[in-house]
Amino acid sequence: MPNPDRDYLTLLLDRYWFAPPVALWRAVELRTVAEEDFPRPMLDLGCGDGLIAQVLFADETPIEAGFDPWLAQVRQAPASGAYARVQQALGDAMPYPDATFGCVFSNSVLEHIPDLAPVLAEVARVLRPGGRFIATVPSDAFRRLLAGYRERVEVADFDGAEAYARAVDARLEHHRYPSPAEWGEMLAEAGMRLARARYYIPAEVEVLWDRANATYGIHEHGQPLYRWLASPRLRKFGYQPFIRRWVVNQLGAHWRRAYELDVPPGGVGGGLVVVGEKL
Ligand SMILES: C[S@@+](CC[C@H](N)C(=O)[O-])C[C@H]1O[C@@H](n2cnc3c(N)ncnc32)[C@H](O)[C@@H]1O
Repeated sequence: MPNPDRDYLTLLLDRYWFAPPVALWRAVELRTVAEEDFPRPMLDLGCGDGLIAQVLFADETPIEAGFDPWLAQVRQAPASGAYARVQQALGDAMPYPDATFGCVFSNSVLEHIPDLAPVLAEVARVLRPGGRFIATVPSDAFRRLLAGYRERVEVADFDGAEAYARAVDARLEHHRYPSPAEWGEMLAEAGMRLARARYYIPAEVEVLWDRANATYGIHEHGQPLYRWLASPRLRKFGYQPFIRRWVVNQLGAHWRRAYELDVPPGGVGGGLVVVGEKL
């Protein structure tokens, strides 16, 4: 079991110091998903560079398998030490026999895949009966909780709000934002049931995150100064470790309350943990 009490904010600010808002979102994400039970053997669908699995499953034996279509990430992931085996593959053609895994984990991946039904069918195929599918995705509330969306709606600039959200969709390459009920239908079509759906990133935190994206130059409307200072090209000047320490210490304190905020009961948040169970 991952540890929900680990300080994911400090760990991720240290790893993603060059993009602090990414660290904030992912820290809340890991704190939330760490409360789930991940039965072994486990598969990490869209494992990327393995950094997230390395942090989340730090105290555990390596995850049995991870895969990703992106070759550079597949080459990098074994160095994380998080996996027994990493392969290059696509979610709609997984290189594993039927009923192999007790759990399929997918962190911030499904929203980037244009055609999801064949991927969910593959998840169900490789899961054992009763096995768990645990996915984190942006929620159906993601767009309307963006600071830039809310600010425009407040002055009745509905077209501007929609254009703002559309620009964020394009920048982050998000294809969809299903509601928990829609997740239930999609999982059912694939032969799974929705065991639960839990929102994270309360409204206040998403507003902070969206504004921080501008402050730290994560999106095109932001001031590029921070992004410029954190650029790998300038590593040779030797000042970046000081920025990194500043980020960990200052933002680690300044964003602490936001990191610890839960979505109020019955409320919604910008992120959603979807837990499915193979029938
Ligand atoms: C935002 S990254 C998340 C990576 C990792 N799970 C993490 O949390 O750091 C999205 C990942 O999804 C992968 N991906 C994109 N399309 C995919 C597909 N069709 N099947 C599997 N993975 C895919 C990308 O290559 C990328 O590594």
